[in-house]
Formats: sequence, structure tokens, C-alpha cells
Amino acid sequence: MKIAISGKGGVGKTTFSASLITAFIKRGFNVYAVDADPDVSLGSTLGLPAEELAALRPVIEMKEIVEKRSGGSGAFFSLNPKVDDIVDDFTVKQGNIKFMRMGAVKQGGTACYCKENSFLYAVLNSLLLDKEDVVIMDMSAGIEHLTRGTSRGVDMIIIVTEPTRVSVQTAKIVQKLATELGICRVKILANKVRTDKEKDFVVSQFTNEELLGIVSFDEAVLENAMEEESGLLAGSGVMPGIEEILEKILREVTCKP
Ligand SMILES: Nc1ncnc2c1ncn2[C@@H]1O[C@H](COP(=O)(O)OP(=O)(O)OP(=O)(O)O)[C@@H](O)[C@H]1O
Ligand SMILES: [Mg+2]
Repeated sequence: MKIAISGKGGVGKTTFSASLITAFIKRGFNVYAVDADPDVSLGSTLGLPAEELAALRPVIEMKEIVEKRSGGSGAFFSLNPKVDDIVDDFTVKQGNIKFMRMGAVKQGGTACYCKENSFLYAVLNSLLLDKEDVVIMDMSAGIEHLTRGTSRGVDMIIIVTEPTRVSVQTAKIVQKLATELGICRVKILANKVRTDKEKDFVVSQFTNEELLGIVSFDEAVLENAMEEESGLLAGSGVMPGIEEILEKILREVTCKP
């Protein structure tokens, strides 16, 4: 199962990704945790060892190795999807987590890094998933990263939003684009909700079907972000209600193929 997490800057994508990863781990899944945001923070939010994170090479650096293997041709990848053995060199492993970072990929404007992007997503799509394997991708803010290539093979995209008009507006733009790109399950997660008024606001903006969950603003989550050495794997600062959200995801993905 592959799940992408998207949304406006600062809404809680990384915190939600890390919380969801810990919930999947607790349930006995193997998780590929993928930091697709060039502004890397998923690894430290999870609480993976800082030295290992610092030494971790981004997956984009695999490109040369794979190109060499396939005789240096440009159209290499689809012909040679066997990369499991190399992928291991680009991951930090801890328990049932395999963490990897995609690497800086500039987007937009005329300078398209399409080749690099397709490489990265071809790598992701080549990960041979067992039934108990999950890929969770923490995407960067905005919509530039959402393309046909990046959304291929994604079972669900979860768009995180705060209970504000601006954040909801961005969420709706991402929602529309994700639907157009053919991602079959496009869900909204309202985060940092403090009051009934805020809750009513998000409920008024999306249908029941669209809303995956509503997560309250939680002091412990924010406090955890201040700690220098902490991490969600240690159990502190995990978003409230994450288990119920996980259940809902599992029902959606397994019941509606
Ligand atoms: N439910 C919550 N309650 C309290 N604080 C929260 C909650 N969710 C996220 N935060 C805090 O909001 C801040 C931003 O969260 P986070 O870094 O996860 O957002 P992001 O969407 O990944 O940001 P960016 O776009 O910069 O990658 C962090 O300080 C985090 O601790
Ligand atoms: Mg983030």
C-alpha cells in the first residue's frame, strides 16, 4: 500500500506522516518511510539516529549506479527495475522501518527535472511490496510535485489542512489535481483543530466521504517538536486519534480496490 501525504506548508504533513508510520509499525507492518520533501525533517521527527540521517545519501544518487548497470542508456529504468539490492544502501533501518530520502528535486518553471523525478518514482514503484508492507511519503508543500509520474501507484493521498480558509483552499486545489491525476482515494485530514467552531468549519467544507479525520491541536505534539532529542518512535508527541485514522485507512484501501 502506498500513501502520499500532501498539503500547504506547516499544516502538519511531517508530524502526521511520522505519527501514521508509528501507528503502522505498532500494528506489525513493515514501513518504507519516504522523505520526499527536500527540506528534510521526517527522519528526525521520527527520532531516527541523527548521525545515520546525516550520512544518508538521497535516492537520486542511485541514478548513476542504475544507469551504469543498464549500459548508460537514458531509457534505462523501466527495463531494469531490479534495484532492491541497491536500495538497501540508501536506507536507514530501525526495527520495521526503512527510511529513505528522495533528494532535492527542483520543480516548476522551465527547468524541468522530469527525468530525475521519473527516476525517483520508478524506484518507489519498483519496491516489491508484500501484503504487510506500506510506503508512506511525506511530500513537499504545494502542488508542483504532483504529477502523473509521482502519483502512479499511489493508493491514497491524504491532504492535510488546518481549519483556515486559506489552508482549505490549497487543500481543495490539491484535491482536484489529485483526482484529475487518477489517484483513486483522495482524502482530507483536518489538523490543529481547537474549537467546535473550527470543527464545524472543516465539516462544512468537505463531505463525510472526503474527510478522513479531524485531529485536535495538541500541546504534547507541539512540545515534542521543541525537544532536541526525541521522536515519535519513542511514543511522545504522536497525534491524538491516530489509531482510528489508521483503521479507517485500512478499511478504505482493503475494502474498495
Ligand atoms: N495536532 C497538532 N497539535 C499541535 N501542534 C501540531 C499539530 N500538528 C502539527 N503541529 C506542529 O505544527 C508545526 C508544523 O508541523 P509539520 O512540520 O509537521 O508541518 P509540515 O506540513 O510538515 O510543514 P512543512 O510544510 O514545513 O514541511 C510543528 O511545530 C508541529 O509540532
Ligand atoms: Mg514537513
